[in-house]
Amino acid sequence: MAKLKIAILISGRGTNMQALIDYCSTENAAAEIALVLSNVRDAVGLDRAAEADVPSVTIDHKQYASREHFEDAVTKTLEDHDIQLVCLAGFMRLLTGTFVDHWRDRLINIHPSLLPAFKGLDTHERALAEGVRFTGCTVHYVRAKMDTGPIIVQAAVPILPDDDSESLAMRVLVAEHRCYPYALSLIAARKTRIIGEKVLIDGAQAPGPAFLNPTDDT
Ligand code: GAR
Repeated sequence: MAKLKIAILISGRGTNMQALIDYCSTENAAAEIALVLSNVRDAVGLDRAAEADVPSVTIDHKQYASREHFEDAVTKTLEDHDIQLVCLAGFMRLLTGTFVDHWRDRLINIHPSLLPAFKGLDTHERALAEGVRFTGCTVHYVRAKMDTGPIIVQAAVPILPDDDSESLAMRVLVAEHRCYPYALSLIAARKTRIIGEKVLIDGAQAPGPAFLNPTDDT
């Protein structure tokens, strides 16, 4: 089967992009990275892409008169590269319904919370303020409303008594770097189907019944 041609859209440091690059460089990966696209000219992720010999392009949103014009340029570039799946990885621009509908079921995102909890920014600060015992991350297909869409993979990450937003962000980021390549591998292997806005995964294995935090182990 031909490899799935993907693009990764970034705005910043690109550690999730790196996790996807690393996955695609493994022998049995069913996806290949055709393009990294940044809307920020000096994004650190662009250096990582260059280091990995992945082609990259910057489309600076500030150079466009409107969100629509910017997105048209992005879509044209993606289509010129025959992109089959677009992966948002710390891409910090809101996308219009037109763009999202154009790429429907071909556009995925990673978000640093267990959606639908803590949509938007400052997820870790808000999780700490609420006193929840678990947070995590979510890889999902993108729909027009911010941080919504059929969920592919989630990781639950415990919150520890001494956590601040930085320590928690680091722990969640480690989980992100597992979740995103895993979700991509499932899509590339054609194991995901969206039915009634839920994702069915062929051969999915369930984890154990429950994790407690604090644990009841003595
Ligand atoms: C990641 O934590 C990602 O989940 C988050 O931005 C960070 C990007 O880091 N994305 C969002 O908050 C999108 N709503 P990275 O550039 O090192 O991958």
